[in-house]
Formats: sequence, C-alpha cells, structure tokens
Amino acid sequence: MTNKHQTAQTVFIGLLGLGTVGGGVYKTIERNRETIRVRTGHDVQVARILVRDLEKERDCQADCALLTLDASDVLDDARISVCVEVMGGIEPARSLIEQALCSGRHVITANKELMARHGAELLALAAEHDVHLLFEASVAGGIPVIRLLQGYLTANRVSEIQGILNGTCNYILTQMRETGREYEEIVIEAQQLGYAEADPTADVEGFDAASKLAILTNLAYEAHVDVTRIERQGITQLRAADLRLADQLGYAVKLIGAVREAATGVHLSVRPRLLPKHHPLAGVDDVFNAVTIHADVVGELTFIGRGAGELPTASAVTEDLTALLAGADALRRPSWTRTLQLALEDDGTTGGAGLTSGSASVATGGAGLATGGASVAAGSAGDALYLALTAASEAELVPLVDGVEAAFRQAGIRVVERQLAVDGGGRRQAWLLLGAREQGVHAALAQAAQTGNFAANALLLPVEGPVATGVEWDVESYPRAL
Ligand SMILES: NC(=O)c1ccc[n+]([C@@H]2O[C@H](COP(=O)([O-])OP(=O)(O)OC[C@H]3O[C@@H](n4cnc5c(N)ncnc54)[C@H](OP(=O)(O)O)[C@@H]3O)[C@@H](O)[C@H]2O)c1
Repeated sequence: MTNKHQTAQTVFIGLLGLGTVGGGVYKTIERNRETIRVRTGHDVQVARILVRDLEKERDCQADCALLTLDASDVLDDARISVCVEVMGGIEPARSLIEQALCSGRHVITANKELMARHGAELLALAAEHDVHLLFEASVAGGIPVIRLLQGYLTANRVSEIQGILNGTCNYILTQMRETGREYEEIVIEAQQLGYAEADPTADVEGFDAASKLAILTNLAYEAHVDVTRIERQGITQLRAADLRLADQLGYAVKLIGAVREAATGVHLSVRPRLLPKHHPLAGVDDVFNAVTIHADVVGELTFIGRGAGELPTASAVTEDLTALLAGADALRRPSWTRTLQLALEDDGTTGGAGLTSGSASVATGGAGLATGGASVAAGSAGDALYLALTAASEAELVPLVDGVEAAFRQAGIRVVERQLAVDGGGRRQAWLLLGAREQGVHAALAQAAQTGNFAANALLLPVEGPVATGVEWDVESYPRAL
C-alpha cells in the first residue's frame, strides 16, 4: 500500500455481512472517506457486499448493485484486497476468511466466537500467506484494547487483566441495582432496547465474555487457551437484593472476565465479582465495557468505552482498516502457538507466566460454576467470599442463620460482615466470609442443609481485594428482623 505522500490509490474492500456492524462500517467509510484519504493516502471503496437477503430493508443506504448472495462475487473480485467479515457465527465465516487469506487478502473480523475458537489457526494461515488478520472489534467494541496488547505493550509483561466485557450483563446488573427489579424483568427490557439477543444465553451465562477473555489472554501471553475450559458463572442466579446487599457492604457486583498469573499457571474466569467501590471497574455502569491491564513496567491501565453497537464496533473495524492502509509492514503479527498452563486455581500468589509446552490443565470452581472436573478452592485463605441465601420468611431466617453460622464456626470460617435485605416475599441474608475456599463453604452449607432446605439457593461469589477484618461475627447483635 502507498504512503500518504503519494497520489491517493483506491483500495477496494469486500464486506461479508451488512447487518448492525457491516452497516456501520459502510456508513463510516462513506462519511469519513476524505479523512481516511488524507490520513492514509488511500481512497476506500466498498466493492461488493455479501448478504443473505437482497430484499431486506437497510438503513445504511448501501448501493443495491453492490449486494450479492454469492460469496464468490466477493472472493473472486480481483480488485478487492481487504475482506471485512461481519457476518458472525463459525460457518460460513471461517471458510470464507480462510479463502480470503489464502488468496492473499487481508481480513478484518469482528467475530469473537470465531477468533476465540479458531484464531490460532487463522492467524497461522494469515502468516503463511503474508497477509494480516485483524480483529480489534472482537473485544470490547470501540475500546482499542487489542491494539494496545498487540502493538503497544511489547516491552511489558502483563500479569493480570480484568474486564467488564459484556455490555448486556453490565446493563442488567446496573438496572437491578438502581431499580431493585429482578433479572427476569430487566432482561426483557434489555431485549426491547436492543441490548440483549432474543436468546440471551451467550451473554448472561458468560460465554460471550469467555470468548473475549480467551482472545485477550492469547494476545497477552502469545498463547492459545481452550475457551471451553474457562471457569464460567453467569449472572442469572443473582437477585436484586444481592446488588443492594453488596452496595451496603461497600461493593459493586460486576461480571468480570479475569486472567491472573498464579504460581501454578494462569487462572482464567468469567464470574460475577464483588469489587470494592474504589476499584477502577466498580463505577462502570450500563452498557459500557472496561478493561484494566496490569503490566510490570507501566503499572495499571484502565480503558472505558462502548463495547458494542453499530458505530463503536464499526469504529474498531475501520481503525483496523486504516492501520492496514497506513502501513501493513508495521503491524505486529500475533502468534498463538504456545500452550498456556491454566492454574488449578488462583492460589493467591503471583508467579511465572505459566507458559509451558505441555498440555493445558484447568481449574474448575465449586458448585454453580459451569465447567466440569474437580472442584477446587476459590483462592487463598485470605481471599473473601460473598455468600447469600434466601429464607422464605422471617420465621425461617433465624434457624437458617443459626444453622449456617454454627457450621461456619465448626469449619473455622470467619464471618467478617453480614447484611440482611428483603427479597420478594422472603429475606436475603448475605455474609462476607474469610478463611475459606469455596469448596469449604459448600461443605459447610451441605452440613447445615441437613437441618434445612437452603443449600440449593446459595450464591457464592469472589470478593476482590482485602476486606476489613475488624468486624467479627457476634450472634447477640445479629439483626433478627427488618
Ligand atoms: N452488534 C454488535 O454490537 C457487535 C459488537 C461487537 C462484535 N460484533 C460481532 O460482529 C459480527 C456481526 O454482528 P452484527 O450484530 O452486525 O450481526 P447482524 O446484524 O446479524 O448482521 C449479520 C450480517 O451478515 C449477513 N449474513 C449472516 N450470515 C450470512 C450468510 N450465511 N450468508 C450471507 N450473509 C450472511 C446478514 O445478511 P442479511 O442482512 O441479509 O440478513 C447480515 O447482513 C458478529 O461476529 C458479532 O459477534 C457485533
């Protein structure tokens, strides 16, 4: 490609998809063509657009003559040097990207699911054909976190990344906290507002965030993790009372995708976590995404922005395009070939990057976490956990609390804080626990459940950061009614 001092050359691109993101890309190219020309020295023209339905009404005003149902009209067009995949899904997106790369075209994709599952082989294919595969839009929409990890933090070692990586979940949790309404009601509202899919499973069960976390991890450690083995817990078990209780305890609850170095490897999880209110991600609300990166030289960096939507996502795609136009040779090629040793669990210590050439092993959490295998501890004995249980009535609350706290005493689990809230017709009791791993709390609950029926509704979440340990459990001062 030329530099900006030469006469502008026309670069033809092929769009694979013209939905929310594709339409935004088309509009951005039309609207900002002159800016792009001045800054990159290239005129960008959309040459062909693959869609499923030629009759569909579209608000991006794309020239109908460019639309086609036949992928070969795009892939066989000799003018096209860059393909932009914004169709979504695994197939036919994967095959089309492979064809584009093999024919010597650069590819830009917004497809996190595809990059998380097949990114390693697609990047290898791109390298083999001396072209680039760029995917800024696949994580956190408009936030340039991929560029940061891939192109900027090259002299730093990343030790930890935490992100609010799913705007749908963040919107739902924010609304639950602010309005006191329950998940079921707000997810319907989110669907009406276009923030949630008709089937919200991928978002609310953490699959989407897990894909994004896998991509960030692969970039940070130049490795390849199996996304299906990431510890994952969604937001569907949370009650509005939990958001309120956490708030009273001094925390915000956020669905956090986290990768953290531990002594035994790298620990990955997508879980709702209690973040102290001074945490950089605690105040990030609604559909916003945010990513905090800890690196050894620069320290902590936090980026906040719109993680989805037509234009923020189109911005990321188009910035990939302009980066290519400005000089493909300057782009660093990520290599996701190394196997990442996944820690059995965060043991609370930091260690090496956990990169080995052996096969990956992965930890799974206690009850309520979606991955299978051995159930192991949540963290170091010094880490705190949030536990909440609902009693059907005030009358059932006292024996429940007595039973649970007796089991904690027996197991050596310390209660450092507790709060009580109304939960529908019942009562939601929350504790901050110290000195326990998740497995230990579940064992104590199972023991206490022999005298009651509450273990099934237990919600157990990790708490970030140190908790004040001055406040210890005192049965006499326990609030017995609201
Ligand atoms: N939406 C966001 O905010 C967002 C944010 C970040 C990343 N992404 C990612 O961006 C990608 C696109 O998302 P989107 O929201 O733009 O999706 P979308 O609105 O559903 O658009 C998909 C487009 O691809 C076309 N398409 C799908 N399957 C096709 C097939 N088999 N053959 C031909 N055309 C096909 C559709 O054609 P028709 O128009 O004819 O149906 C449509 O134009 C996904 O990978 C998504 O994860 C989206």
